[in-house]
Amino acid sequence: MARCFVTRRLPGSALERLAAEHEMDVWSERLPPPPAELRARTAPADGLLSLLTDPVDADVIASAPRLRVISNYAVGVDNVDLAAARERGIRVGNTPDVLTDATADLAFALLLAVARRLPDGANAVRAGEWLTWEPDWLLGHDVHRATLGIVGMGRIGRAVARRAEGFEMEVLSAHTLPLHELLARADFVSLHVPLTPQTRHLIDADALRRMKPTAYLVNTARGGIVDQDALARALHEGWIAGAALDVTDPEPVPADHPLLEAPNLIVLPHLGSATHATRERMADLAVDNLLAGLAGKPLPHEVGVGD
Ligand code: DGY
Repeated sequence: MARCFVTRRLPGSALERLAAEHEMDVWSERLPPPPAELRARTAPADGLLSLLTDPVDADVIASAPRLRVISNYAVGVDNVDLAAARERGIRVGNTPDVLTDATADLAFALLLAVARRLPDGANAVRAGEWLTWEPDWLLGHDVHRATLGIVGMGRIGRAVARRAEGFEMEVLSAHTLPLHELLARADFVSLHVPLTPQTRHLIDADALRRMKPTAYLVNTARGGIVDQDALARALHEGWIAGAALDVTDPEPVPADHPLLEAPNLIVLPHLGSATHATRERMADLAVDNLLAGLAGKPLPHEVGVGD
């Protein structure tokens, strides 16, 4: 029997399967374990089930001499020091595939919401500002037959492209087109790359200035891919028409953060995978990864293996 630290309760019954086989310590607070607690509770563990809110850094890894497997409850693993894990021979699992469609759905929901001004309309109704049907009130931009630029044609990027077909959109990919050309041609730019040192601030002031003044930016990947100061400036000065973000840097973005004062901006609290079924499938896969790693078997999804 191995010892596991699980950094939050998870939806569904997956953790019961883990508890049936191993000794399980679960952090049951709403907020993540503070760094010292994460280190202390991981220290005696053979397996760690972490969330994207947990920085599994070199310190955490160094303090856990028995640690053999880290199972991240997310497809993104930017919260895990992969080099430190690799150096120790610790295997790292993640949860791709099961959240692809939910995340692509949300990217499309954001794209539609920002282009058609859904929050403005809903807020206007509640504020009693709906006086009559007006020819020029709350006008947005067409989504159908517009041009969508997808930056990152992995699983989620491809799923967004499939949804775009239904809207008869022209889809451009940063795989087949230089990024600057995609930015200049797209009516919507949707980000689907992982956060790495190479993609940090990929969308900076220069990139935003290349976009059309009528174009929208959608980010459901990681907040760090966008330079938020530059984005705030772009929105205030009208370099682009709007932006819809499911992710920010930091998360949560403080309610008094200057970014939130920018016009034509929708910000959601990282809801890409937030459906009942998806979060349960993620829990199943994260537990499957952990159980397999502890049993010395191949992980159903091991980071860097077969990707
Ligand atoms: C992930 O899995 O990386 C997502 O951001 C969670 O919704």
